[in-house]
Amino acid sequence: MSTPSLEQVNAALATVNDPEIKRPITDLGMVDSVEIDDAGVVHLTVLLTVAGCPLKDTINRDVTAAVTKVAGVTGVDLELGVMSAEQRAGLQEVLRDGHAQREIPFAQPGSLTKVYAIASGKGGVGKSSVTVNLALAMAKQGFKVGVVDADIYGHSVPAMLGVADSRPTQVEDLIMPVPTPSGVSVISIGMLKPRRDQVVAWRGPMLDRALVQMLADVYWGDLDILLLDLPPGTGDVAISLGQHLPGAEVVVVTTPQEAAAEVAERAGTMASMMHQRVAGVVENMSYLACPHCVEVGDPEHRIEIFGSGGGDRVAATLSERFGYSVPVLGRVPLDTSLREGGDAGKPIVDSDPTAPAATVLVEIAGQLSGRGRGLAGMQLGLTPTSKF
Ligand SMILES: Nc1ncnc2c1ncn2[C@@H]1O[C@H](COP(=O)(O)OP(=O)(O)OP(=O)(O)O)[C@@H](O)[C@H]1O
Ligand SMILES: [Mg+2]
Ligand SMILES: [Zn+2]
Repeated sequence: MSTPSLEQVNAALATVNDPEIKRPITDLGMVDSVEIDDAGVVHLTVLLTVAGCPLKDTINRDVTAAVTKVAGVTGVDLELGVMSAEQRAGLQEVLRDGHAQREIPFAQPGSLTKVYAIASGKGGVGKSSVTVNLALAMAKQGFKVGVVDADIYGHSVPAMLGVADSRPTQVEDLIMPVPTPSGVSVISIGMLKPRRDQVVAWRGPMLDRALVQMLADVYWGDLDILLLDLPPGTGDVAISLGQHLPGAEVVVVTTPQEAAAEVAERAGTMASMMHQRVAGVVENMSYLACPHCVEVGDPEHRIEIFGSGGGDRVAATLSERFGYSVPVLGRVPLDTSLREGGDAGKPIVDSDPTAPAATVLVEIAGQLSGRGRGLAGMQLGLTPTSKF
């Protein structure tokens, strides 16, 4: 058998994406040298962006697999190196694509990324659970999805996505979002703290800087959809977000309870004051399917643990206040497996996709993602099965 050509090996390497940056390692200057000896063994050096890159095993495995597939290759001798400061600066240049620093890509006129901020009045209504499940459902629909955990009180999103202990990789002053097993990328405000156990009172200008950092200094790549998990209420984050991303749409999460609905209306009104459109209302913890009746094959008996009407009430009030229709996007029932999925880092749309709560969340994700990119506010009535 003849020895493989350098072109064949390079073509194989071009199929390997950096797991964080999600672009071919050949485009990123990560392939330092390639040599093929007479016996068909490929000797190559691949440079990691940073020393101790948490994903070096993935790169190792993917490169070895891709090169091994080339006809005539008898072995792969892969050495992993680390980029020099100069090489990292070059990479940063490539990633910034000639743009000035500190520019929020999603706020640029030509941006095709849909941005949804998930808001609520009260805490604990399931905002983070809704965010991660929508993100996963959208990713399954074929969209490239990023999640910003901007909840200054909680930062529960990384754990719910199964990457509780991950820290982002930094290339010069560009931050790589943390990839998750589901393909969704995530950055949490908690990851920006110098030390994990540090308590930071995020407020005012510092909070604004952190939000801008998560939007401008994080290399998101070409996202179809960005979801932001906001802190509950109508505080500084909502104001900052409104200033930096007026084009974001807001999804209001509430429970059926009267008291929750009232504060949820305020969160929606806040968004409107910041000139953001409210895309709709998600009523969470809507009801519990009566376990006894489910047992005997009748799932229709619903126990309204938190009362009823909250979602409808918020939608009606906001519709009237804004003069456009704010729909109830869906009603998510109480479900133990939803909580368990969150605790285990495996959201219910993944861990128990046929559960009623999961199917409602998938359906809501379709309503939000199914709108054409860049056609803000237009209801196309289409649910693409893959990326546009
Ligand atoms: N439909 C549901 N069925 C069962 N448990 C749920 C449901 N929705 C949320 N939970 C659980 O309720 C708790 C609070 O949910 P979550 O953390 O998503 O709310 P949140 O609004 O983000 O809260 P916070 O204000 O603390 O950020 C979690 O333990 C979650 O698993
Ligand atoms: Mg939360
Ligand atoms: Zn019953």
